[in-house]
Amino acid sequence: MNAPTDRHATTAVPIHPLLATRHSTRALAPDTGLTDAQVAALLEAARWAPSAGNTQPWRFLLARRGTGEFKRVLDCLDPGNRDWAGHASALLVAVRTDANAKGPLSHAMYDLGQAMAHLTFQALAEGLTVRQMGGFDAAALASEFDLEAPLVPTTVAAIGLAGDPADLPESVAGPDRKRRERLPVEDLLLNP
Ligand SMILES: Cc1cc2nc3c(=O)[nH]c(=O)nc-3n(C[C@H](O)[C@H](O)[C@H](O)COP(=O)(O)O)c2cc1C
Repeated sequence: MNAPTDRHATTAVPIHPLLATRHSTRALAPDTGLTDAQVAALLEAARWAPSAGNTQPWRFLLARRGTGEFKRVLDCLDPGNRDWAGHASALLVAVRTDANAKGPLSHAMYDLGQAMAHLTFQALAEGLTVRQMGGFDAAALASEFDLEAPLVPTTVAAIGLAGDPADLPESVAGPDRKRRERLPVEDLLLNP
C-alpha cells in the first residue's frame, strides 16, 4: 500500500509544490469541519477564475457534514462514492448555467472546470483535500434541489482533511493504492 507521500506526482521538471503534491484521495478524516474562513477562501478562489466573456457560469451548492443538505447530496451519489464521501467535511455540488440573459453559454462546462481548479488549489493552500466526482445521479440531484435548466449539476466535490488510506475499507481503497500515472508531455503536444 502507498504511504500518503507516494501519491505525490513524479514530475519531469519542478512545478509548484501544491500542484505536485495534489492528489485525489478517498481517505478523509472523519469529524472534521470546514471553518467559515476556509469556505470563504474556497469560494473566493473559484469566483476569481477566468471565464469566456467573463460570464462566470459557475454556481455552487455547499453542504456541510451533519446537515440535512449533506445527506440529500450524499444520497444522490453512486453507491461506490457514497461509501467514502460521507466522511467529507463538505460536499460541494458544482453547477453550471448553460445560458444567461443574452443566450447560450457554450463554454460553461469549461469555465466551471476552471473555477473548480482554482478552488482545488486554494483548498490545498488551506491544508484541505478535494476529490471530485462524476459518479452521481444528476437528475435526482437537480430534482432534490429544484435546479432547473439552464442550471446543470456537473460534479460533486468531497472536501475535507486527508485521512489515512490504511483506514479505508477494502471495497473503496482501490484508487488510493493504484500507481498514479500520466501521459508523457510528448503525447500531449500535437506539434512536437
Ligand atoms: C470530472 C471528474 C469526475 C470524477 N469522478 C470520480 C468519481 O465518481 N469517483 C471517484 O472516486 N473519483 C472520481 N474522480 C477522481 C479521478 O478518478 C482522479 O482525479 C483521477 O484518477 C486522477 O487522480 P489524481 O486526481 O489523484 O491525480 C473524478 C475526477 C474528475 C475531475
